Amino acid sequence: MIGRLNHVAIVVPDLVAASALYRETLGAAVSAPVDQPAHGVTVVFVELPNTKIELLAPLGEGSPVAKFLTGSPSGGIHHICYEVDDILAARDRLLAAGSRVLGDGEPRIGAHDKPVLFLHPKDFLGTLVELEQA
Ligand code: CO
Repeated sequence: MIGRLNHVAIVVPDLVAASALYRETLGAAVSAPVDQPAHGVTVVFVELPNTKIELLAPLGEGSPVAKFLTGSPSGGIHHICYEVDDILAARDRLLAAGSRVLGDGEPRIGAHDKPVLFLHPKDFLGTLVELEQA
């Protein structure tokens, strides 16, 4: 059911330092920071040949990633995103298998303007999983 790894999202306390680490130390192609107020984050996209890394920093009050940094002040992997062909079919299959979908269970429009859902980390090996209809 799941397809390509779309991205790995890493929450960071300092986007400038994180960008420099990926650009200079790791030699990756790194975008300029992009504010996404609707999602409460500023994102730097790291383009790799086979996938993307998203460096996320909190933006504004009540950012969903601010609490993550409280628990992991130096940052850490926040979620991984897999592509699916049909997000409603994927959701229904997961619900039938007893998996929990976060929120109201309806896909919302994610950071790439495509429908996404998040799955409960306790059902997926301690990892927050995002599904994106590619
Ligand atoms: Co994501």
